[in-house]
Amino acid sequence: MFDFQYFTPTKVVFGRNTEGRVAELIREFGGHKVLIHYGGGSVVRSGLLQRVTDTLDGAGIPWIALGGAVPNPRLSLVYEGIELCRKEGVDFLLAVGGGSAIDSAKAIGYGVANEGEVWDFYDYRRTAKACLPLGVILTIAATGSEMSDSSVITKEEGLVKRGYSSDYGRPKFAIMNPELTMTLPDYQTACGCTDIMMHTMERYFTNGGNMEITDAIAEGLLRTVMTNAEILARDPKNYDARAEVMWAGSLSHNGLTGCGNDGGDWMTHKLEHELGGLYDVAHGAGLAAIWGSWARYVYRDCLPRFRRFAVRVMGVEETGSDEEIALKGIEALEAFFRRIHMPTNLRELGVTATDEDLVTMAHKCAVGVDGAKGSARLLREEDMLAIFRASV
Ligand code: NZQ
Ligand code: ZN
Repeated sequence: MFDFQYFTPTKVVFGRNTEGRVAELIREFGGHKVLIHYGGGSVVRSGLLQRVTDTLDGAGIPWIALGGAVPNPRLSLVYEGIELCRKEGVDFLLAVGGGSAIDSAKAIGYGVANEGEVWDFYDYRRTAKACLPLGVILTIAATGSEMSDSSVITKEEGLVKRGYSSDYGRPKFAIMNPELTMTLPDYQTACGCTDIMMHTMERYFTNGGNMEITDAIAEGLLRTVMTNAEILARDPKNYDARAEVMWAGSLSHNGLTGCGNDGGDWMTHKLEHELGGLYDVAHGAGLAAIWGSWARYVYRDCLPRFRRFAVRVMGVEETGSDEEIALKGIEALEAFFRRIHMPTNLRELGVTATDEDLVTMAHKCAVGVDGAKGSARLLREEDMLAIFRASV
């Protein structure tokens, strides 16, 4: 077990109609002028944006709005947001939407609160010294960005998708009303459930410092998400299932399921970021498409964890060799992905990649991780390429 620091400063306000408390929360955290940041329009169509602006108007809190954060949010909109905040004297950011709007808002916050080029942080050239305070009204359970320290942005030039993590970017508050996720298309609900599972699995398949309590939380979380993802595939308006998944999303990526371990593997995410950057796929679907190839490539180097996962999470019987049990666990998770209509390879993801594309992605991925990364197994560029080739 390793020493660890656990920092989750976000005030969570969870349940029906909680978005009605947005003005009170902005006041509590010192906001006087707000930039509301949102995505492609789902919050306009659902009426949520109108309810939020009515609430702010009613409370006498001035606001401006900037929409347009797309999945795999782009750097150009971040620049626009920074300029707008400076011009309008904004001192508080309110992201209304999913991971893309939240991450874009975090990047705007870094850009406003620090001098110089904001992409430097995502390019690992320097670290942020501050971020504008940020609140969230979440509309999709997926990334955990509502409590996480991370923000993922795509730079259009070169299609580079990179994450930056800093405690300054953790939201001050997160309003989570499971009812707000009921308008999601089934595909996005399934993508979200996959991403949630993957945030815990990245921390679970490690070769260092595991703790019984952390494992028990992680395994319970994974079983809960699988059960409720299948309920939602049949019954998307099920409030309790929406709530289970929504809270799991936050706990999966706020650090809780990594306490005591070596920091996690994260290579499935790094490989997916290349798919997202190049083909603009939905993040959760990209993760599902690459995971099986990654798992089969690394499981022998992390056998006790894959065996444990098979038995405790996927319910595989303990007969046969450890390798056989581990492989059955991998197959069982892929079968679950298929049941919720997630892809298990690039073809099913709808991506036709040339070998040249795979070589490019492996190279960019290796550069992005400074040569090598992974805890289940340390992967270098040739390993990344082998996994991409196995996933077509
Ligand atoms: O843009 P709008 O119109 O709002 O539509 C969105 C979008 O098309 C739609 N949607 C969201 N809530 C809805 C809804 N449609 C109907 N009803 C609702 N209630 O769903 C689509 C996906 O939204 P998006 O915000 O892109 O999804 P998600 O939360 O999965 O975010 C994905 C982004 O986050 C990054 C991903 O790489 C990707 O760029 N990640 C961020 C992380 C973090 N900050 O901690 C960690 C993750 O690993 C991930 O990398
Ligand atoms: Zn993710």
